Amino acid sequence: MSKDYIATYQAHTNIALIKYWGKRNQDLMLPVTSSLSLTLEAFYSQTQVHFAKDYASDQFILNDQPQSKNEVQKISNFLDRFRQLKATDLKAKVTSYNHVPTAAGLASSASAFAALACACNGALELNLPQKELSIMARFGSGSASRSLFGGFVEWEKGQGDDSQSSFAHPFDEADWDIAMIALIVNQAAKPFSSRQAMQHTIESSPFYALWAEEVASDLKHIKRAIKARDIHQIGQIAEHNAMKMHATMLAANPSFTYFQAESLQAMEAVRQLRKAGLTAYFTMDAGPNVKIICPYSEVPAIQAHLSKAFDPQNIIVSRPGPQPFPIPTFKN
Ligand code: DP6
Repeated sequence: MSKDYIATYQAHTNIALIKYWGKRNQDLMLPVTSSLSLTLEAFYSQTQVHFAKDYASDQFILNDQPQSKNEVQKISNFLDRFRQLKATDLKAKVTSYNHVPTAAGLASSASAFAALACACNGALELNLPQKELSIMARFGSGSASRSLFGGFVEWEKGQGDDSQSSFAHPFDEADWDIAMIALIVNQAAKPFSSRQAMQHTIESSPFYALWAEEVASDLKHIKRAIKARDIHQIGQIAEHNAMKMHATMLAANPSFTYFQAESLQAMEAVRQLRKAGLTAYFTMDAGPNVKIICPYSEVPAIQAHLSKAFDPQNIIVSRPGPQPFPIPTFKN
């Protein structure tokens, strides 16, 4: 193989309404439960991969910064899966930009690995179907499996140790009156990675035993609510699901939490929005920021309320986002 292989893709991040928290098989990145998310328009990664003879080793440049050995190793392991499929040992240069508003502190691994999976597939001309790409992205980060699709997306947990049975698929286009608002309350880097944190929760939280049952029930109900476009139901189920996930962490031993004082204030602000007659529910992930699920038509009123207590720069509105797509090659 002597020619160069290059492709560039954009993939959008997603926020889970029914959370993934825990793996039943860490090597195969198989989750304990299925999960369901909304892909967001406002946050995305743009990633280019170039496989060529010129490279003696893999390189990884993120937001114009060469990355540490450790980060490059993670990318190399991911690229190996694609090299194996193409039966090539060409090294690659990966150039990526995270278009997450500065210091938003939102998870970028989902969009990053989804974009990289698509770029590898395009560059190496593998023609893998979306389902297969979702499985490949899962090996980078579990939540990345869901960023292969737009709108509401379900990630199936699959069966046993069958890696091929766990992948995401579109559930609903979300082409109706729905939006998500990210409320950036704190810009500090998260103290512990979700990967370590979810494993610690499984190993030490007595509340974890209930988690899988709760998720199965929440998933069934939210799917009905999405099909009915019942945003109150969607919001209530998502908010409760997020709190149950965080409760498993509070009960871990030693206990830990992603809640910060400002997160609690933001959640209270959302409850106040409801008292004022607005439709708004919150969710929160492995970081202190709070995301609000609401009808797009109520965004102006919600923004007006929130901007009394929060800096408008920290209120970022997003509509549902698309599946990954190719973009022009970066100029180096
Ligand atoms: C709280 O997908 O980042 O955002 O699979 O170990 O890479 P790894 O974890 P990751 O965990 C996401 C956790 C979450 C919930 C969710 O997105 O479903």
